[in-house]
Amino acid sequence: MRSHYCGDLTESHIDQEVELSGWVHRRRDHGGVIFIDLRDREGIAQVVFDPDVQESFLIAEQVRSEFVIRIKGKVRRRPEGTENPDMKTGQIEILGKQLEVLNKSETPPFQLDDADDEISEEVRLRYRYIDMRRPPMLERLRLRSQIVRGLRNFLDNNGFYDMETPVLTKATPEGARDYLVPSRVHQGEFFALPQSPQLFKQLLMMSGMDRYYQIVRCFRDEDLRADRQPEFTQLDIETSFLNEEQIMTLMEDMIRDVFAHVLEVALPNPFPRITYAEAMSRYGADNPDLRIPLELVDVGDVLKDVEFKVFSAPANDPNSRVAALRIPKGSELSRKEIDDYTKFVGIYGAKGLAYIKITEVAKGRDGMQSPILKFMPDEAIATIMERTGAQDGDLVFFGADTKKVVNEALGALRVRIGHEKEIIEHGWKPVWVVDFPMFEYDEEAKRWVALHHPFTSPKEEDIEKLDSDPGNCNSRAYDMVLNGSEIGGGSMRIYREAVQRKVLNLLGIDETEAEEKFGFLLNALKYGCPPHGGIAFGLDRLAMLMTGSASIREVITFPKTQTARCLLTEAPSEVDEKQLRELGIRLRAKPKAEEKQTGTG
Ligand code: AMO
Ligand code: AMP
Repeated sequence: MRSHYCGDLTESHIDQEVELSGWVHRRRDHGGVIFIDLRDREGIAQVVFDPDVQESFLIAEQVRSEFVIRIKGKVRRRPEGTENPDMKTGQIEILGKQLEVLNKSETPPFQLDDADDEISEEVRLRYRYIDMRRPPMLERLRLRSQIVRGLRNFLDNNGFYDMETPVLTKATPEGARDYLVPSRVHQGEFFALPQSPQLFKQLLMMSGMDRYYQIVRCFRDEDLRADRQPEFTQLDIETSFLNEEQIMTLMEDMIRDVFAHVLEVALPNPFPRITYAEAMSRYGADNPDLRIPLELVDVGDVLKDVEFKVFSAPANDPNSRVAALRIPKGSELSRKEIDDYTKFVGIYGAKGLAYIKITEVAKGRDGMQSPILKFMPDEAIATIMERTGAQDGDLVFFGADTKKVVNEALGALRVRIGHEKEIIEHGWKPVWVVDFPMFEYDEEAKRWVALHHPFTSPKEEDIEKLDSDPGNCNSRAYDMVLNGSEIGGGSMRIYREAVQRKVLNLLGIDETEAEEKFGFLLNALKYGCPPHGGIAFGLDRLAMLMTGSASIREVITFPKTQTARCLLTEAPSEVDEKQLRELGIRLRAKPKAEEKQTGTG
């Protein structure tokens, strides 16, 4: 039905007869001449119909936006002065000779020329098939496809086998809630959709596959954010007989390769590394955005004896922290901005946001303004100024609370101010975060939880500490972080049965439960398991970053809303009583005739 794509036509086609098929992007009636901007996947070309070709002209008068048409015509140079330098095909047009309407369209719910943020996301998702016709949407999805091809090429060239793993499976604990699927054949029993293929890929290593990858859908029933979806895609990878250095090098090479091919961007070689402890201390987060030069600085040691309990109490508590965050030129911040930031850190549990505005550092306290200066001795002020590197005109914020609250609050504030005040470098800042602790103590559950997952190996030298001092046991895990987004996470795995049993036990999983949930893994570990390790990348996140999108939904064909709904199909939906009966399921209470929340916000 076509000789060319609309968007591919150039001056080299002048005088050629062409046949095009596509959608009417726009139709303009210019006193006797009709212009149709015809659009297909590759772009837009202008087709002109004049009354000389009577039959086609009459049809052209009838067509409307989004009609699907097919035309035949001759390419010619646009008359002088009518060229459009903003259009790929802006030097040429097609003099239409034949026009056939293949299908009509109702008036679309939005203008296809509108920018992403000019159309309500709810409408975009409801009419996703139209939304995806919009050039920016198409461009993002095209880029995603190129990223996938680049990744596959790299892995295929490096000896990885592309393998599938089950979707109907048993719960794999990655820390989120499972999506369950009832079994009809085994009533009262359920499959879980995989949160990741973690255990299957480990079993593939035990099968001798050596190098595996899979582009695979994962399912997690968790609170959604701009960079999280209930179903998302991982590039999942596992290797045998490589150590973490070798895996990290290979994975860096892969990401560098894709950036070079798809974006023509040269990422640093090697990627810098930072330990978990240093990332938390300097950035308050394990996904530091290194484009933002603002840093947290510990000042608790000089505030241990001040009268101000807000500072002295946490300064004397090993689980707490008093940290300062210098904002260059921050003394220009208005009262209202500081109030806003105070409210913002409140979201993370901070009870306040003390600050010092600095007019003239050299004058000491006389060159500063702050309600808390009166509590601070001169030496403390001097040390804080020196450590933060404060200059005239700056402002220093303080966070004083448990480590968790201070890190989350000041970590988030750092990122927010970095963006808002444009204290941010352009470009790409990848970093590996390494030396994660094995466990974190969950105060609510009163037990240790795995920071990565329970199959992550402890550092060899820390294995003895598993019993005596689990809190100080580090793991062989590594995360790849790009511009403040965790794009991948992985680790060397436990490959010895005894160690695996011990770790499960430490996590409060007793022998019986371990057999019930992970018996198949523990068994497999008995039959010659090679040392192995791997990683999984969030493909949607990677595509989101590489396309410069604000949300993961912009790079997913049919995403769910923030309330885990598909607005297009209206899933999830109720099912027939008969279907439930077959599954042996009776609902506890009729679902409320609630208004369906759409929640794109
Ligand atoms: P992890 O849980 O860190 O590791 O997931 C790997 C990567 O997947 C992405 N990701 C998500 N993307 C979108 N929506 C979500 N809800 C979501 N959750 C995670 C992130 C993350 O870095 N089995 C291990 C990997 C391993 O050890 O090999 C795992 O799943 O970019
Ligand atoms: P207050 O004595 O409560 O008026 O607090 C004095 C200053 O300290 C105010 O600017 C508060 O915002 C700030 N502040 C209070 N609690 C904290 C805290 N936990 N961390 C940092 N600043 C705080």
